[in-house]
Amino acid sequence: MHWKALSLAVWMGHGSGQMLPMLRFQCNQLVVERLDPLVTPGSIPSPHLHQIVGGNSFNASMDPATHDLPSLSTCTSCTFSEDLSNYWTAVLFFRARNGTYKRVQQFPNLFLEGHGGITVYYIPSPDATANVTAFKPGFRMLVGDAALDAPGPTRKVCHRCMPETGEASHLNCAAPDSQALPNEFCPGGLRSVITFPTCWDGQNLDSPDHKSHVAYPASGSYDVGADGVCPSNHPVKIPQVMLEVMWDTRPFNDKDLWPEDGSQPFFWSTNDKLQLAEDVAKSWMHRNGYTQHGDYVFGWKDDSLQRAMDARCNGSECSTLKSQSVEESIGCTKLPTVDEDVDGWLTSIPGMPMGD
Ligand SMILES: *[C@@H]1O[C@H](CO)[C@@H](O)[C@H](O)[C@H]1NC(C)=O
Ligand SMILES: *[C@@H]1O[C@H](CO)[C@@H](O)[C@H](O)[C@H]1NC(C)=O
Ligand SMILES: *[C@@H]1O[C@H](CO)[C@@H](O)[C@H](O)[C@H]1NC(C)=O
Ligand SMILES: *[C@@H]1O[C@H](CO)[C@@H](O)[C@H](O)[C@H]1NC(C)=O
Repeated sequence: MHWKALSLAVWMGHGSGQMLPMLRFQCNQLVVERLDPLVTPGSIPSPHLHQIVGGNSFNASMDPATHDLPSLSTCTSCTFSEDLSNYWTAVLFFRARNGTYKRVQQFPNLFLEGHGGITVYYIPSPDATANVTAFKPGFRMLVGDAALDAPGPTRKVCHRCMPETGEASHLNCAAPDSQALPNEFCPGGLRSVITFPTCWDGQNLDSPDHKSHVAYPASGSYDVGADGVCPSNHPVKIPQVMLEVMWDTRPFNDKDLWPEDGSQPFFWSTNDKLQLAEDVAKSWMHRNGYTQHGDYVFGWKDDSLQRAMDARCNGSECSTLKSQSVEESIGCTKLPTVDEDVDGWLTSIPGMPMGD
């Protein structure tokens, strides 16, 4: 069980006690709004709300043939100034007893500083004699399913109820993590994890479902760096992109605020999949938490990501990459294109059918 040992070693890397090198850095909030250039390009607004980080050329269309992120962006909200990529996920909402919704704020992960946003990982092969192939301009991919109503087949998207300090375990998406949203108070907030595939078909920068040009390893551990064996139709090992999002559920840790029926009160911003007001009223589907998802549009300048992977850079310092200060990265924001309230006590989550 060689790969198991490797997988443990890699996952030991998250947070403290990193044993293998991996980029781990903060990308601050660029904007929170209803746009989705990958799934519904050109739609203003898109069906549901996202929180977006990275380069400020992000917009509703981002035509892969012409939208060159590094040259169109004038800044990035990420630590490394050469990373003009965009990353986005669904947004978490708290539902009050009176039926109104409040967006849950994000906070920086362990050992990182910043404002909201996402912790981004790029994990090279744990095998020091095998370099991964960095993504090419125009590359995009998606993990998860905004309409999923049952646990996914694999452990790609999961949640962790964080302890007051530390992180409980270094193994992401293993116990105590769950695919469903935890039905308990989380003393250190809630972490959602999104793990992208590590194998590429070597040809296509994207695919109609934004998934089939990439694959998880056919054997070995799909969710660990590049230690698994890639399937023959997706032979090229790519860096493992992993996102962690820290949701500050702590202000809602109050039994007088939680539902009296014992259910948990958090929802992903994916309620647009509910067609009827009656479905919204049931809302069980989106209370279970399976609909979190992550999107990636590659936008590193030149060969900077390849250099960082080959140099086996660790953490958020990398001598081959250009970094910027926390203040500079926080300062890179974008005014929303879609004019709607996302931060008040809302009678419905943006995009959700009315009538709850
Ligand atoms: C990577 O950085 C972490 C945290 O700073 C450190 O604990 C770990 O030893 C480093 N790992 C390597 C392989 O350099
Ligand atoms: C997105 O940006 C590109 C490049 O600047 C621009 O051509 C396009 O019109 C923009 N799309 C939208 C919907 O704003
Ligand atoms: C609904 O409940 C929340 C949380 O208790 C409260 O802040 C908000 O003002 C309430 N809204 C209405 C319309 O009563
Ligand atoms: C990986 O990249 C580094 C840096 O460019 C290089 O020194 C090393 O030989 C490469 N390893 C392999 C197996 O190609």
